[in-house]
Amino acid sequence: MSPTNSPEPRVTSVLKARNLAKAFGNNKVLRDIDIDIHRGQVVALIGPSGSGKTTVLRSLNGLEVPDGGTVTFGDNGGDSGGLAIDFGAKVGKKDIAALRDRSAMVFQHYNLFPHMTVLKNIIEGPVQVQKRPKAEAVAEAERLLERVGLSDKRDAYPFELSGGQQQRVGIVRALALKPQLLLFDEPTSALDPELVGDVLGVIKELAEEGWTMVIVTHELAFAQHVADEVIFMDGGVVVERGPAAEVLRAPRQERTKLFVKRLQHDV
Ligand SMILES: Nc1ncnc2c1ncn2[C@@H]1O[C@H](COP(=O)(O)OP(=O)(O)O)[C@@H](O)[C@H]1O
Ligand SMILES: [Mg+2]
Repeated sequence: MSPTNSPEPRVTSVLKARNLAKAFGNNKVLRDIDIDIHRGQVVALIGPSGSGKTTVLRSLNGLEVPDGGTVTFGDNGGDSGGLAIDFGAKVGKKDIAALRDRSAMVFQHYNLFPHMTVLKNIIEGPVQVQKRPKAEAVAEAERLLERVGLSDKRDAYPFELSGGQQQRVGIVRALALKPQLLLFDEPTSALDPELVGDVLGVIKELAEEGWTMVIVTHELAFAQHVADEVIFMDGGVVVERGPAAEVLRAPRQERTKLFVKRLQHDV
């Protein structure tokens, strides 16, 4: 407990990851990855294919269990709602479930359940996993669908939707979980170019609303626009990090320079 006359901390930590390490067989995919995310902050994670970006997101979301390192949610892990996991020690199912409860992923290929309507896709997590009342979950889903302009798709199946619409449902499904942290894994890279704008527009609005998020993206102009911090990864390590404008417009490391230059040429 802090004394009542002490000022509120200016930044509130949502997540601290330290020394995350992960190998698949002999392939060391993550080596000592550190990430700090504060409430309302948008972090863009960039880097070449195979650099470990997806594995970082999956590790933060409990879809992958790192071999070592720590993840802490909340200011010191001991706060109400705080969570501290040491992957170097024994990690139980409860820890993983607690980790999964704190963030929600938006996947590159949407990953909607094909046999479920849009509405069912959205309420599945809140109702089945979080045990929230169904009526409440439905009302929330309908409100969120309206927000992204998809009210009329409530009873449609994923195959009846465009990629852009499916991804907006994917975003709504993540929001419906009311996570502390949103994780986007190349949310627009599977979309036809004319559908990218709608999805980026929704993500930008979420950033403006104060959602805390990590976005893996190759859309550097977008990253510069919405991200507070950019982290450049290559070969399982963080090569460079800093304010978006600095890393994207005046990178210091050779590898970052090459990557940014190549992507900008591709655009
Ligand atoms: N489940 C897995 N089994 C084996 N190797 C994997 C698995 N997932 C990822 N990898 C390997 O880990 C490395 C990093 O992958 P990934 O995190 O998907 O990178 P990125 O998202 O930056 O493209 C790649 O070499 C990839 O082949
Ligand atoms: Mg990836």
